[in-house]
Parts: sequence; C-alpha cells; structure tokens
Amino acid sequence: MAGIRWPQEDGELSHARVPTTADLISDDDRSVAADSWSIKSDYGSTLDDDQRHVDACDALSAGNFRAASDYSSDKEEPDAEVEPSLLGLQSHWDATYADELANFHEHGLAGEIWFGAEVMDVVASWTKNLCIDIAQGRVHNLVDNVGSESVEQDGKDLSAWSVLDVGTGNGLLLQELAKQGFTDLTGIDYSEGAINLARSLADRDGFTNINFLVDDVLETKLGRQFQLVMDKGTLDAIGLHPDGPIKRMMYWDSVSRLVAPGGILVITSCNSTKDELVQEVDNFNRRRLAASQDHETLKDQEACRDLTFQYVSHVRSYPTFMFGGSEGSRVATVAFLFS
Ligand SMILES: C[S@@+](CC[C@H](N)C(=O)[O-])C[C@H]1O[C@@H](n2cnc3c(N)ncnc32)[C@H](O)[C@@H]1O
Repeated sequence: MAGIRWPQEDGELSHARVPTTADLISDDDRSVAADSWSIKSDYGSTLDDDQRHVDACDALSAGNFRAASDYSSDKEEPDAEVEPSLLGLQSHWDATYADELANFHEHGLAGEIWFGAEVMDVVASWTKNLCIDIAQGRVHNLVDNVGSESVEQDGKDLSAWSVLDVGTGNGLLLQELAKQGFTDLTGIDYSEGAINLARSLADRDGFTNINFLVDDVLETKLGRQFQLVMDKGTLDAIGLHPDGPIKRMMYWDSVSRLVAPGGILVITSCNSTKDELVQEVDNFNRRRLAASQDHETLKDQEACRDLTFQYVSHVRSYPTFMFGGSEGSRVATVAFLFS
C-alpha cells in the first residue's frame, strides 16, 4: 500500500497473510504455502474482485508495515527492516504461474491482475498520454529534446516507442498498451510459467506481435534498450527477497541499462509511496554520479555516463483514503526520465 501501511491485524484481511520465508524452508513447504495463499486459491471463487486486489496489495506490503509517522524521506537506502516474504522468491512465482497456467488451460482464466483491472487501465492510458505529451514537448519539467530523439514529432505515433515490461507476469499490461497504440512490445519475467501464460493469453487475444522472454531483470540478457520501461509490482516483489535492500540496488543498476537515453521508466507500486520512489531514485543517482567521478574503480565504461533518473510525473487520480490522520492511496504510479 503506498503511503500508509497498517498492521495486518488492523485490517479485515488477516486471512490474506503471506507466510514469510522464515515460516517455510523446504521446496515442498513452499509449494504448499503458495497453494494456501488466499489470493491464488480464492481466485475465481466467491471473493469479489475488489477484495482480491486489496488482498494482493496487502500481500505485497505484508511484513512491511510501519506507522505512518515512521515514514521520512531522508532514508539513505530502502528500509533494511522489511520482512522478507515468499513473494520475493522465484519458487513462489513458479508455483503460482504453474497454477495459473493450469487454470488457463482448464477454465480459460487469465490469472491475477495485480492491483486490479482499473489500475491497469489507468496505468496504460496515463502512460500513453505521457508519451504523447513528451513527444509533443508538453511536459514542462523536462530539459530540451529529451524523449524526442527517436520519437515521432507529432507524438501520436506510439509505434516509435519501444516498450519493455519487466516482471510481466500474465502480460496483460502489454495487451492494454497494445490497445492504446504501442506496437513494439516486449515482456520479460524470470518465471518460465509466467511467460508461457503471457504467450498463451496473447495468442488467444490476438496480440501475437508481443515478444515474451524468460529473463531475470537483475541479470538481464537483453541486448537492447527501450524508450519506455514499465514495472507493475515487480520492484515490490524484488524488495521482499531476503536480500531485498541489495536486490533493489541491483534493480536500479539493471534498469538503467535497459532504459534508452531520453527514455522513461514508469513504476507502479503498492509498497512504496511516490516520495519513497523519488528518494530511492535520488540515492541511485548519487551512487551513479559518485561512481562516474571515480573512473579508476569502474571497469564498465557505460556506467561512467552521467545519465540519471529524474522525476517527471505521477498518477494523481487513484482513490485516496484517510488513516491515522494521514492521507494515502493504495497504489503509486511514478514516471522517471532517464537523461
Ligand atoms: C506482483 S507480480 C506482477 C506481475 C505483473 N507485472 C502484473 O502487474 O500483473 C511480480 C512479477 O515479477 C516477477 N519477477 C520478480 N522478480 C523478478 C526478476 N528478478 N526478474 C524478472 N521477473 C521478476 C514475478 O515472476 C512476477 O511475475
């Protein structure tokens, strides 16, 4: 949940608790836990959609709750006290997508839409408008010419934007972006089951031009860069690994190699607020600039480039609510320019 987190017992959704890695050790235990996770097992049952999306957010932020007053934007690095959960482990996602693939083959179900269909629609249409605004020079806090290097001047031609969705899951976000007019679309996920599901759904729905590849974003083998990189829930999941703080730093290094100069990164999170994401990016920028001034310690000359991520905009239309005297929304979507 972006902005405000509450202890699980304070919510009405205590059944949605995801076991932590400390609870489970063997692979057998892990797959039993994945089966018993209520989001998955309740899918398609009487639980309504809103409830499932709330569960999904709570699952991603489970173990990560602090009082709203604990939040400050001056933290150097992501909170080292985040309690790891199964959602940080590939074994969890492999088990989840094995189930979802079986559900697809048996019942035609698409699987979990993280944060819900409404958020996915908002992310897709908001991103399209942002790209058009950037290409047409209507985003005022950008320096001259960024984002327009290889993008059509009239901005309406979204086919000029190459798009990568990291941790694509069932790939439905890419389908939504295709409906918005993007045509150069690639999705990666480290779980082979996710990629099989995404391909099956894309074939069924007539989106055969979307490329799906098994790839770990932290050790990516992709040999190209993209003008638009999307992340919906993947940094959240990565942060729940037992080495979450380190993995999050690796994430920024990797993503900085995947976003083309002048390109955009759009992150949707229910585990970090907009301000926390901006702070994390500032920390990455500082590390990067310090490294670029110390050329002798760097073998990778590419890392010497002085490109950094800069905040561009965020979605303002998500519903907000009050809790403990603070206002927040469950989800944050933030765009950063890489220039
Ligand atoms: C919360 S789910 C979100 C899935 C999808 N983006 C969506 O919105 O429906 C997190 C996804 O990230 C993937 N993932 C986690 N760590 C990854 C990594 N290091 N590389 C690639 N994919 C990863 C998981 O397999 C899972 O599909």
